[in-house]
Amino acid sequence: MNSKNVLVIDDEPVVRDGCRMVLMKQGHEVEICETGREGLIAALKGRHDIVILDLKLPDIDGMEILGTIMKEKPQTSVIIITGYSTVQNAIQAMKLGAFDYLAKPFSDDELVLSVERAIEKKHLVEQNLSLRRQLSDTFGFSNIIGNNRRMMDVLEKIRKVAPTDCSVLINGENGTGKELVARAIHVASQQSGGKFVGIDCSTLSPGLLESELFGHVKGAFTGASRDKPGIFELAGDGTLFLDDIANLSTDIQGKLLRVLETREFKPVGGTSFKKVDARLISATNCDLQEMVEKGSFRQDLYYRLSVFPIYLPPLRERKDDIPLLANHYLTQFCDKTGKRIEGFTKEAMEALVSYEWPGNVRQLRNFVEHLVIMADRHTLDVLDLLENLNIKGFWREDTVPNTRQELLEVKKRILEQTFGQFEKLFLIRALDQCDWNITLAARKVGMKRPNFSALMKQYKISRSSDRPAPHHGQPHVIV
Ligand SMILES: Nc1ncnc2c1ncn2[C@@H]1O[C@H](COP(=O)(O)OP(=O)(O)OP(=O)(O)O)[C@@H](O)[C@H]1O
Ligand SMILES: [Mg+2]
Repeated sequence: MNSKNVLVIDDEPVVRDGCRMVLMKQGHEVEICETGREGLIAALKGRHDIVILDLKLPDIDGMEILGTIMKEKPQTSVIIITGYSTVQNAIQAMKLGAFDYLAKPFSDDELVLSVERAIEKKHLVEQNLSLRRQLSDTFGFSNIIGNNRRMMDVLEKIRKVAPTDCSVLINGENGTGKELVARAIHVASQQSGGKFVGIDCSTLSPGLLESELFGHVKGAFTGASRDKPGIFELAGDGTLFLDDIANLSTDIQGKLLRVLETREFKPVGGTSFKKVDARLISATNCDLQEMVEKGSFRQDLYYRLSVFPIYLPPLRERKDDIPLLANHYLTQFCDKTGKRIEGFTKEAMEALVSYEWPGNVRQLRNFVEHLVIMADRHTLDVLDLLENLNIKGFWREDTVPNTRQELLEVKKRILEQTFGQFEKLFLIRALDQCDWNITLAARKVGMKRPNFSALMKQYKISRSSDRPAPHHGQPHVIV
Protein backbone atom coordinates (compact mmCIF):
# COMPACT_ATOMS: atom_id res chain seq x y z
CA MET A 1 0.00 0.00 0.00
CA ASN A 2 1.51 3.37 -0.92
CA SER A 3 2.21 5.99 1.70
CA LYS A 4 -0.39 8.69 2.38
CA ASN A 5 -0.66 11.89 4.36
CA VAL A 6 -2.90 11.41 7.37
CA LEU A 7 -4.14 14.03 9.83
CA VAL A 8 -5.42 12.91 13.26
CA ILE A 9 -7.61 15.37 15.20
CA ASP A 10 -8.38 14.20 18.73
CA ASP A 11 -8.08 15.79 22.17
CA GLU A 12 -7.32 12.50 23.93
CA PRO A 13 -3.52 11.95 23.91
CA VAL A 14 -3.82 8.17 24.17
CA VAL A 15 -6.00 7.89 21.07
CA ARG A 16 -4.01 10.48 19.15
CA ASP A 17 -0.64 8.90 19.81
CA GLY A 18 -2.04 5.38 19.38
CA CYS A 19 -3.31 6.28 15.90
CA ARG A 20 -0.03 7.91 15.02
CA MET A 21 2.02 4.87 16.04
CA VAL A 22 -0.17 2.41 14.17
CA LEU A 23 -0.33 4.45 10.98
CA MET A 24 3.36 5.34 10.94
CA LYS A 25 4.12 1.64 11.19
CA GLN A 26 2.11 1.26 7.99
CA GLY A 27 4.41 3.77 6.30
CA HIS A 28 2.12 6.82 6.34
CA GLU A 29 3.04 10.41 7.18
CA VAL A 30 1.02 11.39 10.23
CA GLU A 31 0.27 14.87 11.59
CA ILE A 32 -1.62 15.34 14.85
CA CYS A 33 -3.77 18.15 16.25
CA GLU A 34 -5.31 18.47 19.71
CA THR A 35 -8.13 20.94 19.15
CA GLY A 36 -10.83 21.43 16.57
CA ARG A 37 -9.57 24.86 15.56
CA GLU A 38 -6.01 23.70 15.09
CA GLY A 39 -7.24 20.61 13.22
CA LEU A 40 -9.51 22.56 10.89
CA ILE A 41 -6.74 25.01 9.95
CA ALA A 42 -4.33 22.12 9.31
CA ALA A 43 -6.92 20.24 7.23
CA LEU A 44 -7.72 23.26 5.07
CA LYS A 45 -4.11 24.32 4.62
CA GLY A 46 -2.47 20.93 4.19
CA ARG A 47 -2.67 18.20 1.58
CA HIS A 48 -4.00 15.27 3.54
CA ASP A 49 -5.44 12.24 1.84
CA ILE A 50 -7.13 11.04 5.00
CA VAL A 51 -8.37 12.85 8.13
CA ILE A 52 -9.17 10.90 11.30
CA LEU A 53 -11.56 13.08 13.23
CA ASP A 54 -12.95 12.84 16.75
CA LEU A 55 -16.56 14.06 16.98
CA LYS A 56 -16.37 15.41 20.49
CA LEU A 57 -13.72 18.11 20.71
CA PRO A 58 -13.40 20.83 23.37
CA ASP A 59 -13.85 23.82 21.04
CA ILE A 60 -15.56 23.08 17.67
CA ASP A 61 -18.10 20.33 17.04
CA GLY A 62 -16.61 17.52 14.93
CA MET A 63 -19.68 17.51 12.62
CA GLU A 64 -19.03 21.13 11.78
CA ILE A 65 -15.39 20.38 10.98
CA LEU A 66 -16.48 17.43 8.82
CA GLY A 67 -18.95 19.65 6.92
CA THR A 68 -16.29 22.29 6.25
CA ILE A 69 -13.68 19.77 5.09
CA MET A 70 -16.15 18.10 2.73
CA LYS A 71 -17.12 21.48 1.30
CA GLU A 72 -13.61 22.84 0.87
CA LYS A 73 -11.66 19.63 0.19
CA PRO A 74 -14.17 17.07 -1.06
CA GLN A 75 -11.46 14.67 -2.24
CA THR A 76 -10.35 14.06 1.40
CA SER A 77 -11.48 10.80 3.04
CA VAL A 78 -12.64 11.53 6.58
CA ILE A 79 -12.85 8.69 9.11
CA ILE A 80 -14.92 9.63 12.17
CA ILE A 81 -13.94 8.22 15.58
CA THR A 82 -16.13 8.72 18.62
CA GLY A 83 -16.73 7.45 22.10
CA TYR A 84 -20.36 8.62 22.05
CA SER A 85 -21.49 6.64 19.10
CA THR A 86 -25.17 6.75 18.22
CA VAL A 87 -26.95 5.62 15.10
CA GLN A 88 -28.12 9.18 14.42
CA ASN A 89 -24.58 10.49 14.66
CA ALA A 90 -23.30 7.83 12.32
CA ILE A 91 -26.06 8.55 9.78
CA GLN A 92 -25.46 12.28 9.96
CA ALA A 93 -21.71 11.85 9.47
CA MET A 94 -22.19 9.60 6.46
CA LYS A 95 -24.69 12.05 4.99
CA LEU A 96 -22.15 14.83 5.34
CA GLY A 97 -19.70 12.72 3.35
CA ALA A 98 -17.62 10.88 5.97
CA PHE A 99 -15.91 7.82 4.52
CA ASP A 100 -16.19 5.62 7.62
CA TYR A 101 -17.31 5.70 11.25
CA LEU A 102 -15.43 3.91 14.04
CA ALA A 103 -16.75 3.62 17.61
CA LYS A 104 -14.16 3.94 20.38
CA PRO A 105 -12.50 1.84 21.52
CA PHE A 106 -11.40 0.37 18.20
CA SER A 107 -8.59 -2.09 17.56
CA ASP A 108 -5.43 -1.31 15.59
CA ASP A 109 -6.63 -3.67 12.88
CA GLU A 110 -9.96 -1.88 12.56
CA LEU A 111 -8.16 1.41 12.07
CA VAL A 112 -5.68 -0.01 9.55
CA LEU A 113 -8.47 -1.69 7.60
CA SER A 114 -10.53 1.49 7.43
CA VAL A 115 -7.52 3.50 6.21
CA GLU A 116 -6.69 0.86 3.59
CA ARG A 117 -10.25 0.95 2.28
CA ALA A 118 -10.10 4.73 2.06
CA ILE A 119 -6.86 4.52 0.07
CA GLU A 120 -8.34 1.90 -2.23
CA LYS A 121 -11.43 3.99 -2.90
CA LYS A 122 -9.33 7.04 -3.66
CA HIS A 123 -7.26 4.98 -6.04
CA LEU A 124 -10.37 3.74 -7.84
CA VAL A 125 -11.77 7.25 -8.15
CA GLU A 126 -8.46 8.48 -9.59
CA GLN A 127 -8.30 5.56 -12.00
CA ASN A 128 -11.83 6.23 -13.15
CA LEU A 129 -11.04 9.90 -13.69
CA SER A 130 -7.96 9.11 -15.69
CA LEU A 131 -9.85 6.56 -17.80
CA ARG A 132 -12.51 9.13 -18.50
CA ARG A 133 -9.83 11.65 -19.46
CA GLN A 134 -8.20 9.11 -21.78
CA LEU A 135 -11.56 8.33 -23.31
CA SER A 136 -12.33 11.93 -23.97
CA ASP A 137 -8.85 12.35 -25.45
CA THR A 138 -9.49 9.48 -27.82
CA PHE A 139 -12.98 10.34 -28.83
CA GLY A 140 -13.55 13.89 -27.71
CA PHE A 141 -13.50 17.19 -29.54
CA SER A 142 -9.73 17.36 -29.56
CA ASN A 143 -9.79 14.56 -32.10
CA ILE A 144 -12.00 16.31 -34.57
CA ILE A 145 -9.53 18.18 -36.70
CA GLY A 146 -10.58 21.12 -38.79
CA ASN A 147 -10.35 24.88 -38.95
CA ASN A 148 -12.73 25.23 -41.84
CA ARG A 149 -15.62 27.54 -41.03
CA ARG A 150 -18.23 24.85 -41.72
CA MET A 151 -16.40 22.42 -39.42
CA MET A 152 -16.27 25.09 -36.72
CA ASP A 153 -20.05 25.38 -37.04
CA VAL A 154 -20.28 21.60 -36.68
CA LEU A 155 -18.17 21.72 -33.50
CA GLU A 156 -20.33 24.49 -32.11
CA LYS A 157 -23.45 22.40 -32.80
CA ILE A 158 -21.91 19.37 -31.08
CA ARG A 159 -21.06 21.48 -28.06
CA LYS A 160 -24.62 22.77 -27.85
CA VAL A 161 -26.48 19.53 -28.41
CA ALA A 162 -24.25 17.20 -26.36
CA PRO A 163 -25.62 18.07 -22.89
CA THR A 164 -29.26 17.80 -24.02
CA ASP A 165 -31.00 14.45 -24.55
CA CYS A 166 -32.07 15.44 -28.04
CA SER A 167 -31.99 12.84 -30.88
CA VAL A 168 -29.26 13.73 -33.35
CA LEU A 169 -29.09 12.77 -37.02
CA ILE A 170 -25.64 13.00 -38.60
CA ASN A 171 -25.54 13.16 -42.35
CA GLY A 172 -22.50 13.07 -44.58
CA GLU A 173 -20.70 11.06 -47.25
CA ASN A 174 -18.64 7.98 -46.39
CA GLY A 175 -15.56 8.77 -44.37
CA THR A 176 -16.55 12.31 -43.37
CA GLY A 177 -16.37 11.51 -39.65
CA LYS A 178 -19.95 10.66 -38.67
CA GLU A 179 -18.97 8.08 -36.10
CA LEU A 180 -16.22 10.33 -34.77
CA VAL A 181 -18.82 13.06 -34.20
CA ALA A 182 -21.29 10.64 -32.62
CA ARG A 183 -18.63 9.55 -30.13
CA ALA A 184 -17.66 13.14 -29.36
CA ILE A 185 -21.30 13.92 -28.57
CA HIS A 186 -21.42 10.90 -26.26
CA VAL A 187 -18.21 11.87 -24.46
CA ALA A 188 -19.45 15.43 -23.86
CA SER A 189 -22.94 14.34 -22.81
CA GLN A 190 -24.61 13.42 -19.55
CA GLN A 191 -24.58 9.84 -20.84
CA SER A 192 -20.76 9.72 -20.93
CA GLY A 193 -20.67 7.51 -17.82
CA GLY A 194 -22.73 4.95 -19.74
CA LYS A 195 -21.88 2.90 -22.80
CA PHE A 196 -21.67 3.95 -26.43
CA VAL A 197 -23.29 1.14 -28.38
CA GLY A 198 -23.40 1.22 -32.16
CA ILE A 199 -25.12 -0.92 -34.75
CA ASP A 200 -24.80 -0.85 -38.52
CA CYS A 201 -28.42 -1.13 -39.65
CA SER A 202 -27.50 -2.03 -43.21
CA THR A 203 -25.61 -5.20 -42.42
CA LEU A 204 -28.45 -7.23 -40.95
CA SER A 205 -31.54 -8.78 -42.48
CA PRO A 206 -34.83 -7.27 -41.24
CA GLY A 207 -35.56 -10.34 -39.09
CA LEU A 208 -32.18 -10.28 -37.42
CA LEU A 209 -32.16 -6.52 -37.05
CA GLU A 210 -35.33 -6.55 -34.97
CA SER A 211 -33.84 -9.06 -32.54
CA GLU A 212 -30.52 -7.20 -32.63
CA LEU A 213 -32.29 -3.94 -31.70
CA PHE A 214 -34.84 -5.15 -29.19
CA GLY A 215 -33.47 -8.53 -28.12
CA HIS A 216 -35.41 -11.78 -28.00
CA VAL A 217 -36.68 -14.27 -25.47
CA LYS A 218 -35.81 -17.96 -25.39
CA GLY A 219 -37.77 -19.88 -28.02
CA ALA A 220 -38.86 -16.75 -29.95
CA PHE A 221 -37.60 -18.38 -33.15
CA THR A 222 -35.59 -21.39 -34.23
CA GLY A 223 -32.11 -21.04 -32.76
CA ALA A 224 -33.14 -18.67 -29.97
CA SER A 225 -31.87 -20.99 -27.24
CA ARG A 226 -31.87 -18.35 -24.50
CA ASP A 227 -32.93 -14.78 -23.75
CA LYS A 228 -30.69 -12.26 -25.47
CA PRO A 229 -30.73 -8.52 -24.80
CA GLY A 230 -30.89 -6.18 -27.77
CA ILE A 231 -28.81 -3.07 -28.13
CA PHE A 232 -31.55 -0.80 -26.77
CA GLU A 233 -31.09 -2.72 -23.54
CA LEU A 234 -27.29 -2.96 -23.79
CA ALA A 235 -26.98 0.79 -24.26
CA GLY A 236 -28.71 1.24 -20.88
CA ASP A 237 -28.51 4.90 -19.99
CA GLY A 238 -25.66 5.50 -22.44
CA THR A 239 -25.82 6.36 -26.13
CA LEU A 240 -27.27 4.24 -28.91
CA PHE A 241 -25.72 4.89 -32.31
CA LEU A 242 -27.79 3.69 -35.28
CA ASP A 243 -25.45 3.78 -38.25
CA ASP A 244 -26.60 3.64 -41.89
CA ILE A 245 -30.19 4.26 -40.91
CA ALA A 246 -31.48 4.73 -44.49
CA ASN A 247 -31.55 1.02 -45.18
CA LEU A 248 -34.18 0.10 -42.60
CA SER A 249 -37.09 -1.94 -43.92
CA THR A 250 -40.52 -0.31 -43.67
CA ASP A 251 -41.50 -2.86 -41.06
CA ILE A 252 -38.54 -1.96 -38.80
CA GLN A 253 -39.10 1.73 -39.46
CA GLY A 254 -42.61 1.37 -38.03
CA LYS A 255 -41.39 -0.55 -34.99
CA LEU A 256 -38.60 1.91 -34.32
CA LEU A 257 -40.99 4.83 -34.54
CA ARG A 258 -43.30 3.24 -31.99
CA VAL A 259 -40.37 2.64 -29.64
CA LEU A 260 -39.20 6.23 -29.94
CA GLU A 261 -42.68 7.56 -29.31
CA THR A 262 -43.50 5.40 -26.31
CA ARG A 263 -39.90 5.12 -25.03
CA GLU A 264 -40.47 1.41 -24.44
CA PHE A 265 -39.90 -1.80 -26.39
CA LYS A 266 -40.74 -5.46 -26.34
CA PRO A 267 -38.10 -8.13 -27.10
CA VAL A 268 -39.01 -10.44 -30.00
CA GLY A 269 -41.35 -13.12 -28.62
CA GLY A 270 -41.59 -11.33 -25.27
CA THR A 271 -44.72 -10.25 -23.48
CA SER A 272 -43.57 -7.39 -21.28
CA PHE A 273 -42.20 -3.99 -22.18
CA LYS A 274 -38.82 -2.55 -21.23
CA LYS A 275 -37.96 1.12 -20.89
CA VAL A 276 -35.68 3.03 -23.25
CA ASP A 277 -33.18 5.14 -21.30
CA ALA A 278 -30.48 5.61 -23.95
CA ARG A 279 -29.86 8.72 -25.98
CA LEU A 280 -30.24 8.16 -29.70
CA ILE A 281 -27.81 9.27 -32.39
CA SER A 282 -28.29 8.09 -35.96
CA ALA A 283 -26.23 8.51 -39.10
CA THR A 284 -26.64 8.14 -42.82
CA ASN A 285 -24.87 8.98 -46.04
CA CYS A 286 -28.18 9.26 -47.91
CA ASP A 287 -30.44 12.22 -48.41
CA LEU A 288 -33.21 11.08 -46.06
CA GLN A 289 -35.40 14.04 -46.94
CA GLU A 290 -35.35 12.97 -50.58
CA MET A 291 -36.13 9.41 -49.51
CA VAL A 292 -39.10 10.75 -47.55
CA GLU A 293 -40.33 12.57 -50.66
CA LYS A 294 -39.95 9.39 -52.71
CA GLY A 295 -41.79 7.41 -50.06
CA SER A 296 -38.96 5.05 -49.11
CA PHE A 297 -38.46 6.49 -45.63
CA ARG A 298 -41.24 7.32 -43.18
CA GLN A 299 -41.68 11.03 -42.66
CA ASP A 300 -42.74 10.69 -39.01
CA LEU A 301 -39.65 8.62 -38.22
CA TYR A 302 -37.45 11.11 -40.06
CA TYR A 303 -38.81 13.93 -37.88
CA ARG A 304 -38.23 11.87 -34.73
CA LEU A 305 -34.63 11.04 -35.62
CA SER A 306 -33.63 14.43 -36.93
CA VAL A 307 -34.71 16.64 -34.06
CA PHE A 308 -31.18 18.03 -34.28
CA PRO A 309 -29.52 17.45 -37.66
CA ILE A 310 -25.76 17.80 -38.21
CA TYR A 311 -24.35 17.82 -41.72
CA LEU A 312 -20.71 16.95 -42.34
CA PRO A 313 -19.49 18.50 -45.59
CA PRO A 314 -17.36 16.32 -47.90
CA LEU A 315 -13.62 16.95 -47.74
CA ARG A 316 -13.57 18.45 -51.26
CA GLU A 317 -15.79 21.25 -49.93
CA ARG A 318 -13.40 22.04 -47.09
CA LYS A 319 -10.08 21.77 -48.85
CA ASP A 320 -8.47 24.21 -46.41
CA ASP A 321 -8.53 21.38 -43.85
CA ILE A 322 -6.57 18.98 -46.07
CA PRO A 323 -3.09 20.23 -45.03
CA LEU A 324 -4.07 20.10 -41.38
CA LEU A 325 -5.39 16.56 -41.66
CA ALA A 326 -2.52 15.35 -43.85
CA ASN A 327 0.09 16.70 -41.41
CA HIS A 328 -1.82 15.31 -38.46
CA TYR A 329 -1.86 11.82 -39.96
CA LEU A 330 1.76 12.15 -41.05
CA THR A 331 2.80 12.81 -37.44
CA GLN A 332 0.54 10.07 -36.17
CA PHE A 333 1.86 7.40 -38.52
CA CYS A 334 5.47 8.52 -38.07
CA ASP A 335 5.04 8.13 -34.32
CA LYS A 336 3.53 4.72 -34.87
CA THR A 337 6.20 3.45 -37.24
CA GLY A 338 9.15 5.33 -35.73
CA LYS A 339 9.95 6.96 -39.10
CA ARG A 340 11.25 10.50 -39.28
CA ILE A 341 9.54 12.43 -42.05
CA GLU A 342 9.54 16.20 -41.79
CA GLY A 343 6.58 16.91 -44.02
CA PHE A 344 5.23 17.31 -47.53
CA THR A 345 6.87 19.56 -50.10
CA LYS A 346 4.78 22.52 -51.21
CA GLU A 347 3.95 20.83 -54.51
CA ALA A 348 3.00 17.58 -52.85
CA MET A 349 0.65 19.40 -50.52
CA GLU A 350 -0.88 21.28 -53.44
CA ALA A 351 -1.50 17.97 -55.17
CA LEU A 352 -3.18 16.58 -52.05
CA VAL A 353 -5.34 19.68 -51.82
CA SER A 354 -6.37 19.57 -55.46
CA TYR A 355 -7.48 15.94 -55.34
CA GLU A 356 -11.20 15.40 -54.76
CA TRP A 357 -11.00 12.63 -52.14
CA PRO A 358 -14.20 10.71 -52.88
CA GLY A 359 -13.57 8.59 -49.77
CA ASN A 360 -13.11 11.78 -47.71
CA VAL A 361 -11.04 11.87 -44.50
CA ARG A 362 -10.80 8.09 -44.28
CA GLN A 363 -9.27 7.90 -47.75
CA LEU A 364 -6.80 10.68 -46.95
CA ARG A 365 -5.85 8.94 -43.72
CA ASN A 366 -5.28 5.60 -45.43
CA PHE A 367 -3.32 7.28 -48.20
CA VAL A 368 -0.98 9.06 -45.76
CA GLU A 369 -0.49 5.81 -43.88
CA HIS A 370 0.51 4.13 -47.12
CA LEU A 371 2.90 6.98 -47.97
CA VAL A 372 4.59 6.74 -44.57
CA ILE A 373 5.08 3.01 -44.90
CA MET A 374 6.62 3.41 -48.35
CA ALA A 375 8.69 6.52 -47.68
CA ASP A 376 12.45 6.33 -47.42
CA ARG A 377 13.32 10.05 -47.46
CA HIS A 378 12.79 12.91 -45.02
CA THR A 379 10.21 14.78 -47.07
CA LEU A 380 7.34 13.59 -49.18
CA ASP A 381 7.25 15.13 -52.66
CA VAL A 382 4.98 14.81 -55.66
CA LEU A 383 7.03 11.89 -56.86
CA ASP A 384 6.22 9.93 -53.71
CA LEU A 385 2.57 10.66 -54.34
CA LEU A 386 2.72 9.58 -57.93
CA GLU A 387 4.79 6.49 -57.19
CA ASN A 388 2.33 5.43 -54.61
CA LEU A 389 -0.51 6.11 -56.97
CA ASN A 390 1.03 3.57 -59.27
CA ILE A 391 1.26 5.69 -62.41
CA LYS A 392 4.84 5.29 -63.52
CA GLY A 393 5.23 5.72 -67.25
CA PHE A 394 2.15 7.92 -67.50
CA TRP A 395 3.91 10.98 -68.89
CA ARG A 396 3.87 11.70 -72.63
CA GLU A 397 5.37 14.70 -74.41
CA ASP A 398 1.99 16.11 -75.46
CA THR A 399 0.60 16.10 -71.94
CA VAL A 400 3.32 18.36 -70.55
CA PRO A 401 1.53 21.56 -69.54
CA ASN A 402 2.51 25.07 -70.62
CA THR A 403 1.43 27.15 -67.60
CA ARG A 404 1.40 26.64 -63.88
CA GLN A 405 -2.39 26.67 -63.90
CA GLU A 406 -2.42 23.89 -66.50
CA LEU A 407 0.15 22.01 -64.48
CA LEU A 408 -2.10 22.11 -61.44
CA GLU A 409 -5.08 20.97 -63.51
CA VAL A 410 -3.10 18.04 -64.84
CA LYS A 411 -1.91 17.19 -61.38
CA LYS A 412 -5.46 17.13 -60.14
CA ARG A 413 -6.65 14.96 -63.02
CA ILE A 414 -3.83 12.50 -62.59
CA LEU A 415 -4.50 12.11 -58.91
CA GLU A 416 -8.20 11.56 -59.49
CA GLN A 417 -7.74 9.03 -62.25
CA THR A 418 -4.90 7.10 -60.75
CA PHE A 419 -6.27 7.06 -57.30
CA GLY A 420 -9.39 5.58 -58.80
CA GLN A 421 -7.36 2.82 -60.45
CA PHE A 422 -5.52 2.25 -57.24
CA GLU A 423 -8.71 2.03 -55.24
CA LYS A 424 -10.24 -0.33 -57.79
CA LEU A 425 -7.24 -2.65 -57.63
CA PHE A 426 -7.39 -2.53 -53.88
CA LEU A 427 -11.03 -3.66 -53.89
CA ILE A 428 -10.44 -6.41 -56.44
CA ARG A 429 -7.43 -7.77 -54.60
CA ALA A 430 -9.36 -7.94 -51.34
CA LEU A 431 -12.26 -9.68 -53.10
CA ASP A 432 -9.92 -12.14 -54.80
CA GLN A 433 -8.34 -13.03 -51.51
CA CYS A 434 -11.77 -13.75 -50.01
CA ASP A 435 -13.26 -15.72 -52.88
CA TRP A 436 -15.39 -12.72 -53.74
CA ASN A 437 -17.28 -12.83 -50.51
CA ILE A 438 -18.02 -9.11 -50.04
CA THR A 439 -18.61 -9.30 -46.30
CA LEU A 440 -15.28 -11.08 -45.72
CA ALA A 441 -13.39 -8.80 -48.09
CA ALA A 442 -14.77 -5.68 -46.43
CA ARG A 443 -13.85 -7.03 -43.01
CA LYS A 444 -10.36 -7.97 -44.18
CA VAL A 445 -9.53 -4.43 -45.27
CA GLY A 446 -11.25 -2.84 -42.28
CA MET A 447 -14.23 -1.35 -44.09
CA LYS A 448 -17.93 -1.64 -43.52
CA ARG A 449 -19.71 -3.83 -46.00
CA PRO A 450 -22.07 -1.12 -47.32
CA ASN A 451 -19.15 1.24 -47.92
CA PHE A 452 -17.20 -1.50 -49.60
CA SER A 453 -20.10 -2.42 -51.86
CA ALA A 454 -20.81 1.27 -52.58
CA LEU A 455 -17.24 1.59 -53.87
CA MET A 456 -17.69 -1.61 -55.90
CA LYS A 457 -20.77 -0.09 -57.45
CA GLN A 458 -18.93 3.16 -58.11
CA TYR A 459 -16.21 1.30 -60.02
CA LYS A 460 -18.71 -1.13 -61.56
CA ILE A 461 -16.89 -4.11 -60.09
CA SER A 462 -18.53 -7.49 -60.25
CA ARG A 463 -16.85 -10.84 -60.60
CA SER A 464 -18.22 -11.54 -64.04
CA SER A 465 -16.97 -8.24 -65.46
CA ASP A 466 -13.57 -8.10 -63.85
CA ARG A 467 -12.35 -11.48 -62.93
CA PRO A 468 -12.62 -15.14 -63.85
CA ALA A 469 -14.25 -17.35 -61.25
CA PRO A 470 -11.83 -18.87 -58.75
CA HIS A 471 -10.82 -22.46 -59.31
CA HIS A 472 -12.15 -23.70 -56.04
CA GLY A 473 -15.11 -23.27 -53.73
CA GLN A 474 -18.78 -22.69 -54.32
CA PRO A 475 -20.01 -20.11 -56.81
CA HIS A 476 -20.71 -16.91 -54.96
CA VAL A 477 -23.67 -14.67 -55.72
CA ILE A 478 -22.85 -10.98 -55.66
CA VAL A 479 -25.60 -8.93 -54.10
N1 LIG B 1 -12.43 15.90 -38.80
C1 LIG B 1 -11.70 14.79 -38.60
N2 LIG B 1 -10.57 14.86 -37.88
C2 LIG B 1 -9.81 13.78 -37.67
N3 LIG B 1 -10.10 12.58 -38.13
C3 LIG B 1 -11.21 12.42 -38.84
C4 LIG B 1 -12.08 13.52 -39.11
N4 LIG B 1 -13.12 13.08 -39.83
C5 LIG B 1 -12.92 11.77 -40.00
N5 LIG B 1 -11.79 11.37 -39.41
C6 LIG B 1 -11.22 10.01 -39.43
O1 LIG B 1 -11.60 9.40 -40.64
C7 LIG B 1 -11.98 8.04 -40.45
C8 LIG B 1 -13.43 7.86 -40.84
O2 LIG B 1 -14.27 8.51 -39.90
P1 LIG B 1 -15.69 7.91 -39.48
O3 LIG B 1 -15.61 6.43 -39.35
O4 LIG B 1 -16.18 8.67 -38.32
O5 LIG B 1 -16.50 8.28 -40.79
P2 LIG B 1 -18.00 7.92 -41.19
O6 LIG B 1 -18.61 9.16 -41.71
O7 LIG B 1 -18.68 7.25 -40.03
O8 LIG B 1 -17.77 6.91 -42.37
P3 LIG B 1 -18.79 5.80 -42.99
O9 LIG B 1 -19.90 6.54 -43.65
O10 LIG B 1 -17.94 5.11 -43.98
O11 LIG B 1 -19.24 4.95 -41.85
C9 LIG B 1 -11.73 7.74 -38.99
O12 LIG B 1 -10.43 7.20 -38.88
C10 LIG B 1 -11.79 9.10 -38.33
O13 LIG B 1 -11.01 9.14 -37.16
MG1 LIG C 1 -19.45 5.33 -39.95
